[in-house]
Amino acid sequence: MLKKTSIAAALATATAVLLVAGGCATPDTGKTEAAKPAQDASAAKPAQDTPKPKAVDYTAMTPAALAEYLIFESGSYELDQPTQEGTNGRARLVQDEIQKICSLKKGEELSDEARAKVMALAAASIKYPEGGIKLGDWKKGRELAWSGFGYRTAHNPDKHAGREAGGNCYNCHELATDRTGGTIGLTLTGFGKIRGSGPDMLKYAYDMIYNANTYFPCTSMPRMGANGVLNQQQITDIMAYLFDPASPVNK
Ligand code: HEC
Repeated sequence: MLKKTSIAAALATATAVLLVAGGCATPDTGKTEAAKPAQDASAAKPAQDTPKPKAVDYTAMTPAALAEYLIFESGSYELDQPTQEGTNGRARLVQDEIQKICSLKKGEELSDEARAKVMALAAASIKYPEGGIKLGDWKKGRELAWSGFGYRTAHNPDKHAGREAGGNCYNCHELATDRTGGTIGLTLTGFGKIRGSGPDMLKYAYDMIYNANTYFPCTSMPRMGANGVLNQQQITDIMAYLFDPASPVNK
């Protein structure tokens, strides 16, 4: 709560500063005192665990840099923080091809051509294990399916080194009935028992976890394999949780 208010206050002040800077942006004034109010605000409200934004000279910033600062950095986001996949927070803001196609304008619908393009891009992103898809260990899969720990980045308090990212499946799907799950995706309870575990079903499930856009273009299901959140072994462990007759999903 406190954090929210201080960020809101900082943003409000920063916006005011933006207006002030905008008002006196005549080329001959080299004044930099516009940065002062933001410092006053943080002095009046001592920041708790929120790191202090570094002092910046608003007048020297490009509009894009200023917008980035106000939206992210003044709210304790650090866009240059590394991610587990080896890039940084800033790189996460750049849409890839599928995201671009799927970002529709209001009232716009996905054309058949765009739909086919997304499905083809998704299918091309999938890498299969050497020797074919074999079910892994359902117990490990259970851990991963129930873990909501993901590749958070750019937010200073998060430390993600050394922790395995999970699949977050329970957030959207009901899995075994020993815990509750979300309803954004369909229920996966009894998945293997109901759907069988023939080669086509295994490929379908692998593809879905790797890049669900292969069958559901512009789906809200995250691309766990394509984005490097889960590796091939982890995917087949989660698949074992879905298909293995001994798994609680099928009890
Ligand atoms: C953010 C929500 C979300 C998360 C997280 C998520 N899914 Fe999904 N999933 C969906 C949606 C939505 C669908 C249905 C496809 C559609 O309509 O877009 C789906 C479909 C599926 C299907 C196909 C179901 C069927 O009946 O054919 C499988 C299998 C599946 N998800 C497995 C998983 C697994 C395993 C995980 C974790 C690694 C997972 N999902 C994580 C949203 C999610």
